[in-house]
Amino acid sequence: MNRILVTGGLGFIGSHTVVELQQAGYEVVIIDNLYNSKIEVLESITSITGIKPTYFNIDLRNKRAVEEFFSNNSVDGIIHFAASKAVGESVKNPLLYYENNVSTLVYVLQEMKKHQLTNFIFSSSCTVYGQADELPITENAPVKPAESPYGNTKQIGEEIIKESCKVDSLKAIALRYFNPIGAHETAIIGELPLGVPQNLIPFVTQTAAGIREELSVFGDDYPTKDGTAVRDYIHVVDLAKAHIAALERLINNKNKKDFEVFNVGTGIGSSVLEVIKAFEKVSEKSLNYKIVDKREGDVTAAYADTTFANNELGWKTEKTLEDALLDAWKWQLKQ
Ligand code: WQD
Repeated sequence: MNRILVTGGLGFIGSHTVVELQQAGYEVVIIDNLYNSKIEVLESITSITGIKPTYFNIDLRNKRAVEEFFSNNSVDGIIHFAASKAVGESVKNPLLYYENNVSTLVYVLQEMKKHQLTNFIFSSSCTVYGQADELPITENAPVKPAESPYGNTKQIGEEIIKESCKVDSLKAIALRYFNPIGAHETAIIGELPLGVPQNLIPFVTQTAAGIREELSVFGDDYPTKDGTAVRDYIHVVDLAKAHIAALERLINNKNKKDFEVFNVGTGIGSSVLEVIKAFEKVSEKSLNYKIVDKREGDVTAAYADTTFANNELGWKTEKTLEDALLDAWKWQLKQ
């Protein structure tokens, strides 16, 4: 019970999860079409763990290729990261997101059904909550109408999995990520944003490295402690370890329902200005930033109630915001 397929395994969260899987004794098979990742990450993973994962360059939109893979490969569990994840891009190109995030999920689940595969971990997002009515956010918070096609594909994905679990032998866990940041402590793998970073932390580190002129802070008149928006920034290695905990819950038949959802965050909300201050402290660099208008679609605040994940997965975060910012900075300095 130890051969695990990781789709999107050369991506930011995928690569960190592959490292943790290998170090936990699992054999890893990666499928990645390199749409938003680089083949060099395969060697980077190998240099950290000393074990080269099996790798297939397959585009999961190619149904025939997906069928062929599962006909020739048996796996004991699947962690499904492969998806497009840029909110802004999804607004401009919704059909690309529905094709790449939804049809590929259906193809993988169809093969799981055909081959009686059961253990499935789905990469979901706190974006399904929109602006939650209550903070911190628990798994019982209502899923709100999605603010972007990207967010909608995560909601639809969860529904597809839930319905499949009702009729097939599928057992699944959706992990609703808050804001993944940071990099592996070796600085050998990390976040590789292609083009201008959309997310806060890569923009911060690229500004500190002189690649970007200055950081634009999107709004400082939110109803928050200092007027800037609040998020739950979780170290990517802590997030990777949550996937191992979720996988082992299924493999060891500890799940209490065939489909379960867990919020994966630190439980701590940090504002943009607090992140900037923490980054300046750990990097000993002064960050050049200016306040600009709010970004369309941003929520005021989102941070997790981690009780359910802590208790049921036996998992909790070990790294702080400063740990993550320092690891992100060390990674940036190696680029
Ligand atoms: C964080 C905060 C911005 C950039 C999105 C998706 C989520 C997940 C993570 C994929 C916000 C502010 C940002 C900048 C800024 N994506 N900001 N200047 O929007 O919380 O979440 O990315 O899984 O699903 O919704 O993350 O890093 O873009 O923004 O002021 O240049 O930083 O307004 O408050 P977000 P983010």
